[in-house]
Amino acid sequence: MDRYAIRGGASLFGEVQIGGAKNAALAILAAAVMTNDPVRIENVPDVTDCNVLLKAMERLGVSVERPDRHSVIIDGSKIDSCIVDDEYLKRIRASYYLVGALLGKNRRAEVPLPGGCNIGVRAIDQHIKGFSALGAKVRIVHGAISAEAAELRGAHIFLDKVSVGATINIMMAAALASGKTIIENAAKEPHVVDLANFLNSCGANIKGAGTDVIRIKGVERLHGTEYCIIPDQIEAGTYMMASAACHGDVMIRGVIPKHLECITAKLCEIGCHITEYDDAVRVSAPDPLMSTQVKTLPYPGFPTDMQPQITVALGLAQGTSIVTEGIFENRFKYVDELIRMGASIKVEGNMAVISGVKSYSGASITVPDLRAGAALVIAALAAEGDTVIEDTRFIERGYEDFEIKLKGLGANIERVSTERDLRKARLKLA
Ligand code: UD1
Repeated sequence: MDRYAIRGGASLFGEVQIGGAKNAALAILAAAVMTNDPVRIENVPDVTDCNVLLKAMERLGVSVERPDRHSVIIDGSKIDSCIVDDEYLKRIRASYYLVGALLGKNRRAEVPLPGGCNIGVRAIDQHIKGFSALGAKVRIVHGAISAEAAELRGAHIFLDKVSVGATINIMMAAALASGKTIIENAAKEPHVVDLANFLNSCGANIKGAGTDVIRIKGVERLHGTEYCIIPDQIEAGTYMMASAACHGDVMIRGVIPKHLECITAKLCEIGCHITEYDDAVRVSAPDPLMSTQVKTLPYPGFPTDMQPQITVALGLAQGTSIVTEGIFENRFKYVDELIRMGASIKVEGNMAVISGVKSYSGASITVPDLRAGAALVIAALAAEGDTVIEDTRFIERGYEDFEIKLKGLGANIERVSTERDLRKARLKLA
């Protein structure tokens, strides 16, 4: 089990390149099995979640080629099973995208029930509601979701809750259903739009993605394509927040600034100076930061996947800030660790009341989930003294070359495997 050894206190300066969006890649990789032609996908991030999904797809009989680190060629013509049986796959939430993809293509799918980050109850009732409306019989059997349909027919579906996963899953199945599907109260996240663009480039007929009503005219078959995944909004936001917390001046390259507007707005409120370019944003931060209030909401609101990172930054801001979690009910678990680093935060229900402190202090830290892991690394970079982040695996689910990119910005961070490595890293960082 690898760890990060971090010596805090260095300001972050320089440039960082952002990779492809993990959450878009997960949807698009799964959707690529829906055609029998080869599909080439570029800008796929080399992160555990994507690699695990690709492995599971290979087990279904899908051919997966990696001509280079960020390109994948997928050929779903020889799928010989509709049953995903992979222990490890249970740990990634997005495994359930194979239900929508396989149900659309083969009218049958069985996939282990999703795991993913430990951030609260993650219901799938809206996915089931959507598949059922399209005519599928959906059951939960032996810890898996099983969906089957003699025929899939378009339907008018009102989502009771804005759900990224349900919108994506229904869109995939409906793309190959007969007739017209309308999804109302759909999620509007950039990766929902990216999946719709990908499916349309394969011959699907999807309109309205990015608004709350998506209209899909089912087609008989999809064909091959070449497609490049959008930049990762959350990876970019994480480096923006790292720059803010470490009083840095960082140019974040390879982004779509429009997707970052809600993050940019909050950073401006707390005193950061932001310059937007065509495909980059520069974040320079004052010392100290100012307090603010944040509530996480579906896109275009402030993303829940950025909640831990902004909480870490606000923990160092002058005055009292309030962060309200509007999406998941259990997403403040990491706050206990942050308090061990000297933060002054009270969590009540879905609200964190943060009294800014002057600095954090290094400690030995356990990571509860992916985004909290990245946030705790930011806290360690801003802290006085040494921190050991006890397990890098959560972070590697969603961040490619995290410590390498941070080092490029001047951070004192080493990835270590053994006690001996840790001692050596401490000497090196000293
Ligand atoms: C996706 C993202 C995740 C992000 C989240 C919210 C991927 C792979 N993951 O997760 O990083 O944090 O969107 O932006 O893209 N809900 C129900 N019933 C359902 C489905 C969801 O009640 O059938 C609830 C959930 O419990 C949660 C809320 O709706 O409270 C939003 O969940 P959803 O948008 O579905 O999140 P995911 O797609 O799982």
